[in-house]
Amino acid sequence: MGYKPAFYRGRRLRRDYGLRELVRETDVRPQDLIQPYFVREHEDPDYQGSIPSMPGQKQFGLQALEDHLRQVLPLGLRGIILFGIPQYKDERATQAYAEDGIIQQALRKIKADFPDLVLITDVCLCEYMSHGHCGLVENGRVMNDSTLELLALTALSHVQAGADMVAPSDMMDGRVGAIRQVLDQNGFADIPLMSYAVKYASSFYGPFRDAAQSAPVFGDRKTYQMDPANANEAIREVQADIEEGADICMVKPAIPYLDVLAALRRQVSFPLAAYHVSGEYSLIKAAAEKGWIDEQAVVHESLLSIKRAGADIIISYFTEQVLELLSS
Ligand code: PBG
Repeated sequence: MGYKPAFYRGRRLRRDYGLRELVRETDVRPQDLIQPYFVREHEDPDYQGSIPSMPGQKQFGLQALEDHLRQVLPLGLRGIILFGIPQYKDERATQAYAEDGIIQQALRKIKADFPDLVLITDVCLCEYMSHGHCGLVENGRVMNDSTLELLALTALSHVQAGADMVAPSDMMDGRVGAIRQVLDQNGFADIPLMSYAVKYASSFYGPFRDAAQSAPVFGDRKTYQMDPANANEAIREVQADIEEGADICMVKPAIPYLDVLAALRRQVSFPLAAYHVSGEYSLIKAAAEKGWIDEQAVVHESLLSIKRAGADIIISYFTEQVLELLSS
């Protein structure tokens, strides 16, 4: 005859907090979280600009970012991912791989002052291209293969300036292999690569494109980002990137694609990251501003769901806010 587990008799487990914690399966921990920052090339290094579609997030001048980091590091911030906003854009994204580019300057400065902070860089060309696409454009088309060389140059220049890990987000085929090869050839075999392997052509990136001033001036990104209708394709993308040498694979956006994340978790033993993107952030902020939801509770539940689905690492604009809560 079958006995019912004691936990469930009289709903004891749901009532008693201590017991509940003992058998809790997932948790959001400070070391799981990465905060994105927008660093802007500006004549005033103390520049701080608000981003109307992302309340609470800012564009920082070089010095402003450093001052800000000094304030938030005591909260337990372990890792950051940097996005650059250059003063000049052109058709070859020159400022993406310039030695004195904004990201390269920021890396040198932050590495010198905060050597223990994990510095990750987004490797992409869209913020540096006058047309806003992630690759070279010829006759109105994004050229996959000729873009690879520029992406590899960009990644190398980031690592030379102090990046601990590079994260290509452009979605050109073959870029993980191209970057791995160049890093290895230049003595950086130990620098890991976090690939935005599963990046959907999502409408949830809208606020980010305001923040990074990187919206394409013509067309869209559907020729190189993934179709939101596809889940099996995600498995193929991750397998390809792992074969090319990715150390960590990312799913992006997070919450609308938790099914994809959970499916990947069952198939690969590699670390998985999820990017809780700008639109996911702004939706919560907007509803909270109206008083329609309890912001802290919704943020915690959202991040918890991403962990439960299988992410080891979460990139989220809520990182600082959550750390503050956890440390108080
Ligand atoms: C660059 C890039 C984007 C995001 C991260 N890296 C924008 C895009 O692909 O259009 C989006 C992040 C976010 O929405 O928070 N290619």
